[in-house]
Amino acid sequence: MTQESAASGLNLLAAPELTRHPQPTYKILRDSSPVMRVDGIGVLVSTWELVDEVLHKPQLFSSALTSGVLKNERPLIPLQVDPPAHGKFRKILDPLFAPKRMTALEASIATLVNQLIDGFVDRDEIDFAKEFSVPFPTQVFLTMLGLPLDETPSLLAMKDGIIRPHEITGKPLGHPDTDAYQTATAQSIYGYFTSTMQERKRLRRDDLLSWFLEAEIDGDRLSDENILDICFLFLIAGLDTVSASLDCFFSYLAQHPDVRRGIADDESNIPFLVEELLRYETPVMAVAREATQDTELGGCPIHAGEQVLALLGAANNDEKNTDEPEVVRLDRRVNRHLGFGGGVHRCLGSHLARVELRTALRLWHHRLPDYSIKPGVELDFTPGVRAVSTFPMLLHHESAH
Ligand code: HEM
Repeated sequence: MTQESAASGLNLLAAPELTRHPQPTYKILRDSSPVMRVDGIGVLVSTWELVDEVLHKPQLFSSALTSGVLKNERPLIPLQVDPPAHGKFRKILDPLFAPKRMTALEASIATLVNQLIDGFVDRDEIDFAKEFSVPFPTQVFLTMLGLPLDETPSLLAMKDGIIRPHEITGKPLGHPDTDAYQTATAQSIYGYFTSTMQERKRLRRDDLLSWFLEAEIDGDRLSDENILDICFLFLIAGLDTVSASLDCFFSYLAQHPDVRRGIADDESNIPFLVEELLRYETPVMAVAREATQDTELGGCPIHAGEQVLALLGAANNDEKNTDEPEVVRLDRRVNRHLGFGGGVHRCLGSHLARVELRTALRLWHHRLPDYSIKPGVELDFTPGVRAVSTFPMLLHHESAH
């Protein structure tokens, strides 16, 4: 295990070249320091075997992180709850996000995709992030919660106020102004969902919130606080991750016309491409855990209380798990990846995310098969969850189907 300075460690994880194209750095980490302690961050773990071990030992590597970086008042449910309590919440939530229910949403998701594309299909240049990757998952989320689509801007403002308050205040994370903005946003999220929940208590509808109010497991109901802690997480987990995945996918496809043609010409390749890009690009780069006791990983001592960052992207590109991991293949039929995490906290929304990503790729390439990143633009991906705030894209109509 090597010791790095805090500054170089933080720079390493946030450098634009790394977040734009992280695979070479992942390889260096796996080959030279599969377990690396970085001051100010914690212990980075980068091989498939060790990342998988961290994810599958929740008793040693806890998700109940003490730091309130998101200014939530209580642990987010189920993300920051350890077994056995975690299992009770998943038992309630899993059926809501089961594959069959998510497939049933495909028609309404397709309508949203088409409406968004209608807005710019005749133009030559768009901002993919502002006009597609950001509004699309937000509108899916509003539809699931049974909320009006004109609440899109306020929902996005709440999400951004929690995830990237520094971009709004123009001051760094940890600055009192940024902290105050984030705290106020967290309060507005609790307030928003509290009043929506009150409305649903008066009048049930066919939506998730109404279902939470009725849900029962082993004779227990979800408390109002439980429901708020679930909604808070959904807002963070369900919006940014799908936007980030679309940014990563379309950035890759814009630069690889052969792969793009492979799905435009044969839609049956799309589900395989989605898995392959979740593996290769790994939009959620890492997940955090806290060691519950002194232990070891790959022979390296880990101290109780230390933060462990399991680098999902590094594991997904480990040649010990995937043949030729650096090649994105449409014919990779067996694709074991950790793009949705692994173990008990594996993504609750994976089936929904798959329906969203597959539907977006299918309809987009049917209507707009040819596009590129605007020349001269370098996309800047945020670290952690690899999203861009602006994505200037040229649409090429002459070769449209
Ligand atoms: C492509 C899009 C998505 C990606 C890449 C993704 C990725 C992940 C990852 C890596 C985790 C594991 C976190 C950990 O172990 O600490 C996770 C958990 C979670 N995700 Fe997703 N996610 C996506 C979409 C969604 C959507 C659409 C929802 C909708 C509600 C969602 C809800 C959740 C929840 C609730 C958890 C916590 C599960 C638990 O702790 O048991 N995700 N996701």
